[in-house]
Amino acid sequence: MTKIEKIFANNKEWVAGKLNKDPSYFDNLSKGQTPEFLYIGCSDSRVTAEDLMGVQPGEVFIHRNIANMVISIDLNAMSVLNYAVRHLKVNHIIVCGHYECGGVKAAMQSKDLGLLNPWLRNIRDVYRLHKDELKSITDEGKRYNRLIELNVQEQCVNLIKTAAVQQANKERGLQVHGWVFDIHTGKLIDLKINFPEILESIMEIYKLD
Ligand code: CO
Repeated sequence: MTKIEKIFANNKEWVAGKLNKDPSYFDNLSKGQTPEFLYIGCSDSRVTAEDLMGVQPGEVFIHRNIANMVISIDLNAMSVLNYAVRHLKVNHIIVCGHYECGGVKAAMQSKDLGLLNPWLRNIRDVYRLHKDELKSITDEGKRYNRLIELNVQEQCVNLIKTAAVQQANKERGLQVHGWVFDIHTGKLIDLKINFPEILESIMEIYKLD
């Protein structure tokens, strides 16, 4: 069996398993979605969103890219965000980073990475914003972990800068959460992003609602 054939065999087994538990499983699934969460995570193959959160199809709207970035001119991310917030009416948005993130590691190196340069530049900007704190960490591994956490925090701030998030927060109390998946232990860590405080602190120039 080839690797591709194996995937189709797995799928057949998955369908049978679902139907065995609930014969109308796919009929119900096809009726629509009302997810409560939007998850923005890294494309890394080891960070499998649904698995690590223990959620089922229909529960989480998902967007993944290199290093879980939220960039205001990224039409893809902004389309996902607007659809999730304004149409699906999710009540929670999660930015989930992860330790050992290759995207963040690449951004920490001073070298030309071609097409990835403009993407990673956004992470290099996070480094610049928090340079004093990061440079005070002498252990390179700890500095790397901290940049991963600060990158999540800055992407949460980027979410809060959008009109969709500000309006939904006002209308129905939508919240933004920053998490890190600890790939060494499998645990999810809540960075306890202070949503109201960030909202308040950036309102002077970013207020759009
Ligand atoms: Co990553």
